[in-house]
Amino acid sequence: MQGKRILLVVGGGVAAYKTPELVRLIRKAGAAVTPVLTRAGAEFVTPLTLSALAGAPCHTDLFDLTREAEMGHIQLSRAADMVVVAPATADLMAKMAHGHADDLASTLLMATDKRVLIAPAMNVRMWDHAATRRNRATLDGDGILFVGPDEGEMACGEWGEGRMAEPAAIVAAIGAALSARPSLPADAATLRLPPETLVTPPAPQPLKGRHVIVTSGPTHEPIDPVRYIANRSSGAQGAAVAAALRDLGARVSFVTGPATVPPPERVDVIAVETAREMRDAVERALPADAAVMAAAVADWQVVNASDRKMKKDGSGRPPALEMAENPDILAWIASDARRPALVVGFAAETNDVVANATSKRQRKNADWIVANDVSDGTGIMGGAENEITLVTETGAEPWPRLAKAEVARRLAARIADALQDAGVR
Ligand code: C5P
Repeated sequence: MQGKRILLVVGGGVAAYKTPELVRLIRKAGAAVTPVLTRAGAEFVTPLTLSALAGAPCHTDLFDLTREAEMGHIQLSRAADMVVVAPATADLMAKMAHGHADDLASTLLMATDKRVLIAPAMNVRMWDHAATRRNRATLDGDGILFVGPDEGEMACGEWGEGRMAEPAAIVAAIGAALSARPSLPADAATLRLPPETLVTPPAPQPLKGRHVIVTSGPTHEPIDPVRYIANRSSGAQGAAVAAALRDLGARVSFVTGPATVPPPERVDVIAVETAREMRDAVERALPADAAVMAAAVADWQVVNASDRKMKKDGSGRPPALEMAENPDILAWIASDARRPALVVGFAAETNDVVANATSKRQRKNADWIVANDVSDGTGIMGGAENEITLVTETGAEPWPRLAKAEVARRLAARIADALQDAGVR
């Protein structure tokens, strides 16, 4: 973090009391801090405290004309190597998710072209609220990084997930994010040019000319016209992988079951419902250089599905559903004559994650398995973060807990490397 510049947005939550310590630790790690305080944040910590610890002025007002003339909010947001929001309140997250820009903090967050890491802090019920869940998924899809929240006692006396991550953990997350992707060359950010002339260099496109098939989301297996068997997959990880592959230049065929997360833009979306439809769509999308099977395909289908809504017959006995195994799309594509050069499967496990994924890799003839623990309490299924182990021919590689978008970016980069190494065209 030595020499890096962090723009720290402090939102209006009780956890703001930890931000002076956060400023101290960031500076101790060698980075400079420019604090920005929201109006509500100023109720919990003063601008004077933050600027004294940062050794830099604390910005609070969008319409500070002197400073506006001197620097401008766009340049302020871009002169940093990274933007950190701590605490990120439910309100601030909602503003970010919906693109509001009605104060300095939200305007900076809209104007920045740098990585944004947020440390959410709120009451457990607010964190769990459907609206916050939607906003989390949106922000995750936008590539915003998350650290925390932690589980523990809240200022309001309740217990649960929603405590802001400790300052040391936030500093560790900043360090990890800064080393994960280099920021703009220092001269581009320090040049005193009008903001509009600060142009981000084009991202490298190592997957240009490649075609990748990604399956995503759950499948729905009908019981009758109104009922179906499904699972809790949101499709968030699959959508993030498709977006990351697209960003590296790939043409992506995105075969998705009925997911709750919207599909990414600029990919070929093929919407399906059942496992059989998914298999057929994947087959039609061939040939491909790589296939990433992130869908949570239902293992079984109902063979005696009714074409009319089933009714209770008064006997008190439920109808017997006759099930049959669905086609295993991953196993099929990995052994087909048209097999893509790289086939990646996912394994959602609740126990013996690495052992199960390792045997799954061999059994299904996949090159890699992205394995994760989805047991109760991990918050991974439907959540914004993922903690995976990448199982390859050479072994099992545990990755840290990361935002799903970051897992996707790293996975896409590995796929690009692997295809390059394989030299396939
Ligand atoms: O066997 P299991 O369902 O755990 O395997 C998970 C992996 O296999 C995922 O990559 C999933 O997309 C793929 N799969 C599939 N077709 C199935 C079942 C799983 O492609 N019918």
